[in-house]
Amino acid sequence: MCGIVGYTGFGNARDIVLDGLKTLEYRGYDSAGVALGGDYIAVYKTAGSVDALNIPDCAAHIAIGHTRWATHGSPTQKNAHPHLSFDGSVAVVHNGVIENCEQLKAELVAKGIKFASDTDSEIIAHMLALEGGDMRAAVEKVAGRIVGAATLLALRKGDDRIYMLRKGASLAVGVGEGECFVASDTLALGKYVRSAYILSDGECAVISPITASFFKDGVKIFKTPTEIKRTPPTPCACHMRSEIDEIPTALKRTFLSVLDSVDETLLSDVRNAKRIFFVGCGTAYHAGLYGKLLLEKLLNVPCEATLASEFDGVRLHGENNYAIFITQSGETADTLQALDRCKRHGIPTLAITNVGGSSITFAADRTLLLEAGAEVAVAATKSYNCQLLAIYMLAKMANGVGFFANLPDELHSAIQDVYGADLYEERIRTSNLFFIGKGADYVTAREGALKFKEITYKMTDAYAAGELKHGAIALIDDNSTVIVTLTNPKDKHRIAAAVSELRSRGAYVLAISAVGDVGADKTFALPHLSDDDLYPLLSVIPLQNLALTASLCLGYDPDKPRNLAKSVTVI
Ligand code: AGP
Repeated sequence: MCGIVGYTGFGNARDIVLDGLKTLEYRGYDSAGVALGGDYIAVYKTAGSVDALNIPDCAAHIAIGHTRWATHGSPTQKNAHPHLSFDGSVAVVHNGVIENCEQLKAELVAKGIKFASDTDSEIIAHMLALEGGDMRAAVEKVAGRIVGAATLLALRKGDDRIYMLRKGASLAVGVGEGECFVASDTLALGKYVRSAYILSDGECAVISPITASFFKDGVKIFKTPTEIKRTPPTPCACHMRSEIDEIPTALKRTFLSVLDSVDETLLSDVRNAKRIFFVGCGTAYHAGLYGKLLLEKLLNVPCEATLASEFDGVRLHGENNYAIFITQSGETADTLQALDRCKRHGIPTLAITNVGGSSITFAADRTLLLEAGAEVAVAATKSYNCQLLAIYMLAKMANGVGFFANLPDELHSAIQDVYGADLYEERIRTSNLFFIGKGADYVTAREGALKFKEITYKMTDAYAAGELKHGAIALIDDNSTVIVTLTNPKDKHRIAAAVSELRSRGAYVLAISAVGDVGADKTFALPHLSDDDLYPLLSVIPLQNLALTASLCLGYDPDKPRNLAKSVTVI
């Protein structure tokens, strides 16, 4: 989603801001722009890529830049940020959605202000220019009038300071020697500074070439910087490919990180919970479904896995609830909002995330960091395997396991075998595709279907194997391909019956199985693992690879699927 970068100092502001925007490209965007400050403000915008921005060489020492993910108004040049105020005195970049946009816009139109774009964000530039006076106070006042999310940067003509406020999406400030930086993601700062000040919601900051000051509700506050551990990924032809290849090393890092972080307090919180909620979106939600099944089985505690966007307060009443939030990016707005709801109910919260210093790490009571390494491809792969491992270890430790003999090595070797599974056939992209499974394998089927949809744009779906006969089997004919995942010996007969039913109706069935033959047309045998509960970490890999191969065969860029952003920072 939208990326924000700002710079003020003695360096070349244009180059530094463009470089930051390039680093943030992975988040997904559809237009870009930069405003150079000084005696006047020069704005350069483009639909499409940052590379298309044509900014002449110049000596500007202050600039703000933006990559836009269209919400209000189509992804055109005029709608790209930064937006200039009616008098050219203020330029603004914004990340969020202004819910009371129509009302604020009507007030401005009544004052005779003409709009140059179809965006909600342009309102902010005009409101700031009208406020005048102390710019920091104006930023706080204007943000206070906005209902919704409004993380913003503003620069003013003739001023060497950048003013900013966080309301929703994150902002991080870096202080160098004779220069200050701001970005929506520390990834864009790591090249220039070793630590960053992460703004909390509602905080305001002002940066100049020599200092950064922080405020909350108009009062100056002191903040402690956080070390930037993340490094931008090295450019490569296909990030999704390299992220799948990195799964064994990522799992090893997660293993060590979880061992290091889990302590008796966390385990007793989990053990003593009367009800555990797993909350996330997309792939992270699927990890929550796995968590629900595992914790219910091992700890005999009622669990619910809920989509963050569907999480309401209704079920939060009662004693000893515990909530686990799963999010690769740590910035997903729906997940953060759900966490906020839990906090308001006094429910202890744990975040499982891949990004240290992300918003959720500040919001949750506890954090388990995955340390999977930067994940750039929009389709989550290694972070999912690592989420499952973190949940697996937490559940087993809460159940009394204190030692995981050779776990990373066992997974490493099994994954090498699984990389060899090539499920792709021509008919995968020409026939109607279904993913099925039971229990934890149904979770894998759902993740396989999501991955396939995201990067091939083909309609597919996942079904619980036993549920097929209650409706979806009506879709099956000889133009159907069904991928079945089976890792639990208990389910073998049931799955074999489903496979037979599907084949007798003409479907072509591919099986990924840890328990032998179930009568499929083709079977990939999963290598043996010492614990059945680990299979979901393994069995999803052929499905991740399948989606990737299909996407490439269809001629798409799997790293940047259409309409999708890596981190969804709006509700
Ligand atoms: C996964 O492939 C998707 N890109 C998407 O479903 C993602 O998992 C979801 O948006 C949640 O993101 P998060 O883990 O960063 O919160």
